[in-house]
Order: sequence, then structure tokens, then C-alpha cells
Amino acid sequence: MTFKKPPLTLQTTTLWDYPSQHYGVGQQGDSRYVGATPSYVVWNLLTRYTRAGDLVVDPFCGSGTTIDVARDLGRNVRGFDLSPYRADITAADARELPQESGSVDFVFMDPPYSDNVKYSDDPRCIGRINATDEAYFDALGAVFREAHRVLKDRRYLAVYICDYFNKKKGFVPIGLRCLEMLASDFRLIDHVCVVRHNKSLKLGNWHKAAEEDNFYLRGFNHLFIVKKELPAPSAGERAAPRRGGKVRPS
Ligand SMILES: C[S@@+](CC[C@H](N)C(=O)[O-])C[C@H]1O[C@@H](n2cnc3c(N)ncnc32)[C@H](O)[C@@H]1O
Repeated sequence: MTFKKPPLTLQTTTLWDYPSQHYGVGQQGDSRYVGATPSYVVWNLLTRYTRAGDLVVDPFCGSGTTIDVARDLGRNVRGFDLSPYRADITAADARELPQESGSVDFVFMDPPYSDNVKYSDDPRCIGRINATDEAYFDALGAVFREAHRVLKDRRYLAVYICDYFNKKKGFVPIGLRCLEMLASDFRLIDHVCVVRHNKSLKLGNWHKAAEEDNFYLRGFNHLFIVKKELPAPSAGERAAPRRGGKVRPS
């Protein structure tokens, strides 16, 4: 029996759920890529927060999900990753994007959540840093500042991320820490919980271990939606003459 994917509709509550990694007849990104973003998440964000022809950027592009969804919707797109998986992804560190300041309409990112997945041997890979190490949050802080730099004023960033739990190392509230960092540079628009349908969550032995050892499996990802808002220019700045221009007499 073949599984028929349900049609895409805009999510209207702060609890997002869709039973498939991909929509439509094909795939967006690559289902063989460990840690790929469910494509309906990107579809919902781009549908709400961008228009045809806008430029979308993903600094952690992985298998290219954001590129495929953006093209489906007629958006322009640039995908960056330290370790490009496809030819249309540009090699770059998310903290130093080869992208002009104030040139991007929307940034989507799904960064590594700690060091549970090995993405590459590149020493700059954030997926090599355990979330219990403050260096992980220093790195994410630099990524958020870079997203702020490349975004146009009054445009949006969405961060898709999961908390960390390890039986020996304990719980790290990655989501709360990120929200705190984002709030210092951006206006908070909303916080969505996205139901996880990871294969490991379907395995009975994981649930048995969670019950027996008294811990919880990660059932949702955080999705933070924030907006860049530059402060309005002060009266003095408004009155300052442009090069070669005149100040209007008051
Ligand atoms: C969770 S995956 C992204 C999955 C992607 N959204 C998809 O749908 O396939 C995280 C990605 O971050 C990349 N990465 C890790 N550190 C990076 C850095 N400093 N700069 C750019 N990319 C980085 C990894 O190579 C990996 O592809």
C-alpha cells in the first residue's frame, strides 16, 4: 500500500503537525540525509512571510530542503553550508556569510542540536560542540548576529531547533537559551512547537528506556519566528544632511 501525503495547508495554531517529511509527489531535500528539516515547516514559513521573487537564505542548508521549497514557491534562494551536499549549495560558515548586509528577505535555519549527528570533520562545524559546552551557545549567538546583518529591515528569521537530553549529561534547554539570545537583537513574533516524527521515536525500545529510566524523549522542536526591526532614526539623525544635500530649515 502506498502512503498518500495529505495536501499542504497553512498551520493556524502554535502546534504544527504533518505526518510526512515531504509534500507532493517528490521530495524536498533528501530523506537519506540525517537531520533534514520536514519540508512543510519551510513551506509554511515561506508562504506566510515571503512573496514571489523575495530572496530566502538558509545558512545551514544540509540536503537542500529550503532551496527546493523556495523554488516550488517562486522565491529566489541561496543555501550555504560548511559541507555542501549538492552543487547548488555554497560552502560558507554560517557566522561569515558571503552575502551583502541588508540584502535578504527571509532567513530560515535548522542548526545542529549539540553533537549527536556527525556532519563533517570541519573544525568549524557547530555539530562538533556538545550543548553542555558554552562554546555551543557562543557559536549560535554569532550565527544569529550574522542573520541579523544580512536581513533587510522589517524582515523575518525562523530558527528550528531542539532541546538536548543525555542520560549522563542531563538536560540543556537549548530553545530557552536561543530565545533569550534572539530577544536581544530581534522582535519576538511567535514560538511554535513542531511535532517530531523521527524514526527513533517509533521504536518501542526507546519508549521502554524512557519509562524505565525516568526520562523523556524529545517530542517536539522549537520554531522561533523573529523580526529584524532597526530603531527609528533619532531627530538628530533625521536632520543630518545627506552628502551634497541640504537640511530643511525648521
Ligand atoms: C540539521 S542540519 C540542516 C538540515 C537541512 N535543513 C536539511 O533540511 O537538510 C545542520 C547543518 O549544519 C551544517 N553546519 C554545521 N556547522 C556549520 C557552520 N559553522 N556553518 C555552516 N553550516 C554548518 C552541517 O554541515 C549540517 O548540514
